Amino acid sequence: MEVIHSISLLKECLKQHKLKNPAIVIGFVPTMGFLHEGHASLIKAAKEQSDLVVLSIFVNPLQFGPNEDFDRYPRDLQRDSAIAEAAGVDLIFLPQKEEMYPQPIRTTVSVTTVTDRLCGASRPGHFDGVATVVSKLFHIVQPDKAFFGLKDAQQVAVLTQMVSDLNMNVEIIPCPTFREPDGLAMSSRNVFLTKEQREQALVLSQSLRSAAVWVEEHAIYTTKDLIELTISHIQSAPLAVIDYVELLAFPSLEPITTVDSNKDTVILALAVKFGTTRLIDNLIMNKRM
Ligand code: PAJ
Repeated sequence: MEVIHSISLLKECLKQHKLKNPAIVIGFVPTMGFLHEGHASLIKAAKEQSDLVVLSIFVNPLQFGPNEDFDRYPRDLQRDSAIAEAAGVDLIFLPQKEEMYPQPIRTTVSVTTVTDRLCGASRPGHFDGVATVVSKLFHIVQPDKAFFGLKDAQQVAVLTQMVSDLNMNVEIIPCPTFREPDGLAMSSRNVFLTKEQREQALVLSQSLRSAAVWVEEHAIYTTKDLIELTISHIQSAPLAVIDYVELLAFPSLEPITTVDSNKDTVILALAVKFGTTRLIDNLIMNKRM
């Protein structure tokens, strides 16, 4: 496994790979590091579906709001390298902030509509930051396939829209949410939870599972009913402070008032704070799932 810090060296290295094998399929997994098994599952999917796996680690300042956790975002490069190598990464790209953003940035990528709801509503500018950095990384790496987790389903929707609108030559591959054995969705931010918060955070995945069971029994239902049920379940955890509980059509993220399970694909999406740690989780439901 090779570790490359500079944009020009990475481009040169990838050029050599393409010269050697013009049909090479490059799989790309962008991350902000502090890797866990969720990231490893994306790397493994990339390994299966491509010839060369590139992993980027870059805590992107552009996608953090002024009061968010950029400075305290967890970092551990040594551990990340070991996890990346074990999961099958060929090349790690570790760009420096100064090279990615050498001056106040004057060109950004902004996706509308799908970005103004869910996390976009409570994190203004967040998805512009994500779209801009991922667009830059796509230009640098020029991957054939890019792998993203459905844990961040809105991110998948936003980037799929960006790739389609800007005719980018990359296929977005959504991958399932990887969970702890007890159901908590893996996240780099889980390390911030106290023991008590960690126990109560289980309410996210549990409320999604209960919602799935309830939906099995209600082929046609109103969004309001399912949201009320889910909110009351989450409120059973005293430390949980709800940011949002929403049910939207997926992947358009358009509002929906009545759901017909036989034809609609919907996402039940949650953002809940435990102390200062904000967790998200979601469930995508359709007849075929
Ligand atoms: P980060 O939070 O590090 O996540 C990197 C990738 O791992 C994303 O595609 C995310 O959805 C996926 N991921 C995280 N937890 C997961 C889990 N439990 N199961 C499956 N996949 C999981 O998302 C970002 O970084 C950034 O926004 C980025 C795309 C790198 C742009 O800066």
